[in-house]
Amino acid sequence: MTVTIVGAQLGDEGKGGVVDLYGDAADVVARYQGGDNAGHTVVEDGTEYKLSLVPSGAVRGKVGVLGNGCVVNPRTLFEEIEALRERGLDPDVRVARRAHVIMPYHRVLDGIEEEVKSESDQEVGTTGRGIGPTYEDKAGRRGVRIGDLLDPDTLRERLEYVVPQKRAVVEDVYGLDVADLEDPEAFDVDAVFEEYREYGQRLAEQGMPVESGAFLADARDDGQTVMLEGAQGTLIDIDHGNYPYVTSSNPTAGGAATGTGLSPGVIGDGEVIGIVKGYLSRVGSGPMPTELGGVEGDTPGYDEQGAGENEETATYIREEGGEYGTVTGRPRRVGWLDMPMLRHATRASGFTGLAVNHVDVLAGLDEVRVAHTYDLDGETRESVPATTEEWGRCEPNYRTFDGWADADWSAVADEGYEALPANARAYLEYVSDELDTPIYAVGVGPGRDDTVVVERPL
Ligand code: GDP
Ligand code: IMO
Ligand code: MG
Repeated sequence: MTVTIVGAQLGDEGKGGVVDLYGDAADVVARYQGGDNAGHTVVEDGTEYKLSLVPSGAVRGKVGVLGNGCVVNPRTLFEEIEALRERGLDPDVRVARRAHVIMPYHRVLDGIEEEVKSESDQEVGTTGRGIGPTYEDKAGRRGVRIGDLLDPDTLRERLEYVVPQKRAVVEDVYGLDVADLEDPEAFDVDAVFEEYREYGQRLAEQGMPVESGAFLADARDDGQTVMLEGAQGTLIDIDHGNYPYVTSSNPTAGGAATGTGLSPGVIGDGEVIGIVKGYLSRVGSGPMPTELGGVEGDTPGYDEQGAGENEETATYIREEGGEYGTVTGRPRRVGWLDMPMLRHATRASGFTGLAVNHVDVLAGLDEVRVAHTYDLDGETRESVPATTEEWGRCEPNYRTFDGWADADWSAVADEGYEALPANARAYLEYVSDELDTPIYAVGVGPGRDDTVVVERPL
């Protein structure tokens, strides 16, 4: 059986922690989409690991696979593996030959396009890792795959076709001079070829390249258990999210099949766990109907309406939840839980169970609100509309729950579900009933042991 972990909201729901929680019973943990735009946290005995490309099972010494649906930057992959080795882990990471490679020009182009879009307030607020440009080239059939790095002639041929095009985009479309860029070598065929050919050698020497579908199928045939680790979240899925404020891959469960080479039947026969943050956080731009307060530069319309009347609650949740970007320290946007969003996510991925995290963060509030439905143009809606423009006009209809007090959360985690404050249980049961999906785990703190485990899927 497989267990697939999917972000139900806007990313950063605590997926890494749940992979770690259930990962003791898994043999292999595979990522199926995204790249080093992800930041997955695992806290083991007070030691915090932030994983970006290396699957979160590495903390427990599990084999990690980057499936064909991932985009892999070998520079950051090797750096990350090295940094984890220095901290005493020994990551065993395999990379699909079919996975696409994030090339230096992709990162540069990601930055340039965001800059240009920002002139008309249309920037997505990407992580700048070159994710979008790499998936663009994949769809445009001009990408470089891991398999190509292993074959210098093919690599050279691909680069000779694509690099001059990228240079022309910079110069002729954006009117910039490549020589003035921070990384002009990103557009130099010879320089890119030399560096990436070496990565290919290194990958081969370390036995990292695999055919991900066959590798995972063989593991299953041998009786091993495979976990699939989604990155990002449903509302930033390129198909099911609020386009264009999305990432360029499919974090929803369908992506676990296409992004690994395991069949949809295999994924669907297993468990698909939706990871839910007990409220919402969002990095970057785009609508967020339940937003509390607002963040300058990210919240649409902030310049006109400012932080808004709920700034105090926003600040409380942001501080308690540590909702600040790990790299930039920028405050994240926060809002109340949004049921239309979760109904949409549950339908798209077919969750068999839910892990609801950050229940401790909400403690201390007098009341906790949830958007039960939306109003849009005089109609009540239970799910999110298809266009971002419509979503931006949705007015939440809130349900209000009595708050719960702070508690000794490790004791609660030890004692189990019934030890949760009654009001927190009422909140969780509402979510579970509305989504017709059982609660498998409740996060009451960042550590591995700070989780109330209701069900173990493995
Ligand atoms: P991911 O991208 O979905 O893996 O989530 P991140 O690691 O980016 O963000 C989740 C953050 O919340 C991390 O700092 C976690 O350690 C922390 N976290 C996860 N679950 C809980 C929880 O239940 N309570 C609290 N207080 N923090 C949590
Ligand atoms: P994890 O796996 C939260 C957001 C970016 C931006 C949009 C597109 O840790 O949950 P991209 O660089 O992917 O082209 O950016 O998606 N984003 C995330 N937000 N968590 C993530 O990953 C994210 N990965 C990308 O902020 O709005
Ligand atoms: Mg994250």
